[in-house]
Amino acid sequence: MEDRLDAVPARVPAPPEAPPPVRLADGLAYGGDYNPEQWPREVWDEDVALMREAGVNLVTLGVFAWGTVETADGVRDWSWMDDAIELLHGSGIGVDLATPTAAPPQWLLTAHPEIAPVLADGYREPAGGRNAWCPASPVYRRFALRHVEALAERYGRHPAVRLWHVGNELGGGNARCHCERSAEAFREWLERRHGSLDAVNAAWGTAQWGHRYDRWEEVMPPRGRHGAPNPGLFLDYERYSSDALLAHYLAEKEVLGRHSDAPVTTNLMVGAGAQVVDYASWAPHTAVAANDHYTSVDDPLREQDLAFSGDRMRGMSGDRRPWLLMESSTGGPSWQQRNRAKDPGEIVRHSLGHVARGSDGAMFFQWRASTAGAEQFHSAMLPHSGTRSRVWREVVELGRHLHALAEVRGTTVEQARAAIVADDVAGWALQHGLKPHRGLRYGRELREWHRALWERRILCDVVPSTADLDEYDLVIVPTMLVVDEAAAERLRAVPERGGTLLVTYLSGVCDVNGQVITGGFPGAFRDVLGAWTDEFYPLQQGERVRIDGDVLGGPVAVEDWTERVHLEGAEATVRYESSSLGGGPAVTRRAVGDGAAWYVSAPLPSDAVDGLVRRLAEETGLEPTAETDPGIEAVRRVGDDRSYLFLLNHAGTDRKAEAEGHDLLTGERVGPTVTVPAGGVRVLRE
Ligand code: GAL
Repeated sequence: MEDRLDAVPARVPAPPEAPPPVRLADGLAYGGDYNPEQWPREVWDEDVALMREAGVNLVTLGVFAWGTVETADGVRDWSWMDDAIELLHGSGIGVDLATPTAAPPQWLLTAHPEIAPVLADGYREPAGGRNAWCPASPVYRRFALRHVEALAERYGRHPAVRLWHVGNELGGGNARCHCERSAEAFREWLERRHGSLDAVNAAWGTAQWGHRYDRWEEVMPPRGRHGAPNPGLFLDYERYSSDALLAHYLAEKEVLGRHSDAPVTTNLMVGAGAQVVDYASWAPHTAVAANDHYTSVDDPLREQDLAFSGDRMRGMSGDRRPWLLMESSTGGPSWQQRNRAKDPGEIVRHSLGHVARGSDGAMFFQWRASTAGAEQFHSAMLPHSGTRSRVWREVVELGRHLHALAEVRGTTVEQARAAIVADDVAGWALQHGLKPHRGLRYGRELREWHRALWERRILCDVVPSTADLDEYDLVIVPTMLVVDEAAAERLRAVPERGGTLLVTYLSGVCDVNGQVITGGFPGAFRDVLGAWTDEFYPLQQGERVRIDGDVLGGPVAVEDWTERVHLEGAEATVRYESSSLGGGPAVTRRAVGDGAAWYVSAPLPSDAVDGLVRRLAEETGLEPTAETDPGIEAVRRVGDDRSYLFLLNHAGTDRKAEAEGHDLLTGERVGPTVTVPAGGVRVLRE
């Protein structure tokens, strides 16, 4: 039989109508990856007893269990999985059943080494890791779907199955394959997207370096370690790669849907910066968007990173629907350089931080710490030292809190009035190829503007460039190098309808194909901004340029990037003071009726971003979620007739907030001034 995949559609298929709300558990979901196949049967009884003690109500089962069920080609032993599902079900614990396709079994990798992905330099990734499969491999697809079908036939109607979990972190390890089969699939995708090879030549501008294509066979994925791919080729390959993985997810989802009514999702890795695939186009295809989030131990602002990720999940979930924290850690992961444990209180505070921003639960990797295998030193809900550990005590405490917060399930985070636009295609473009400055990181600006709002407790959604922006009074567009015309139009409309738009350097410079828009930077926004740049002045390492203006609250030095800006209707609110740009505009503002359009031509240091955000908040009347001491994070979730104020104290001393209500965690009535203990959390039903 010849294996053949359906071509990857060149436009992401239209998502289904917004699916009905998902009910994973009676209250908030609590649990983690459960791998009973790693343990003797007698341990399972203890597992389930301890799960009940901790209040666990949902576990992800079988994520990497393809090889322990399909032990040889077509030979399946379901006995352990049957037992595990019955045991969990009998104990009232729901199952998030995973299709185990992230880790193909050894027999399959041995029989079909060609399913492994090929790196840009031609090296074929050997078996032994995870996600070691090429998204365009018809052989892999055939074996994967065959097993998914068998799994769905067996358990698809089992009452314990509350959710399907497709694969694991799709794209983590195999997002870009450069093999021959991928090259063919890419060409088919290109033909659907552009219509003809002539259109591809025009879109990519292949006249440069005489790279014109005459035959489809000449088009290759961007290969090789050296040189720089054509930006159009590069961006289309990134897009194709995202679509190819999404096509795999949809193929598994289709099989599951034939045997089961349970909702389907897959765990994304949503964070700050350019993501491995374009998750914003994936999220609408999940019944509940799911995220894996791990704090970086060396990130001094890890709580803000966590908040950013939650705000981005909400921004891509549609209608601010609740999402699900599918994985996080109770302590050190094992893939960072120095895997420090969490500080006391952080397990609870971090988990409730996700819930505050819209997660309907808190799940972990993993339930019981493994003793063997690559992840033997990864933290878990039940650590190696067992129940006499601080981690276990906090896990039990967290379970109690989640139980007390059951009524929060299904409520949504209140509507934000501020938004930051985050776009993966723009991030990929900024960070690759021969750019005027090759060290710029997309996540830096995203995080920085978000931080300034977060510290002022002003809620903001982090939205994809496809989002409807009508609800927002302030829209911030950081370093969005590539922009498609429809998105640019929505952004330009913000000041026209009385809102405030802030665009930072290197935004709107290129069109969707990565081609520079001529006539002065940033081509897509120069009219609305009333300002334009004729030259970029990237700075050398250690070089600093002073800028000053009232809105900043004092002179500051910028690094990395400056521009020669000209006014054409805007006023200069900040000017360059040193360097050959001396006297030239650095930050500009154009009044547009009741609205305004700001341009920031350099990466501002934190103090200056704070100053500018203070001014923007005044100008647009943005209010904090609650008046509090510094160090407190405040977020509100709202239901039909009630609202819940989450107050998280990230400081090492007690802090106060002006708030009032019934604290669901302690049962006391508090306010109008509330003390939030050092490192602690309060959740008030207002
Ligand atoms: C995740 C992955 C889990 C586990 C975890 C460790 O990325 O999905 O299976 O490996 O990392 O932190």
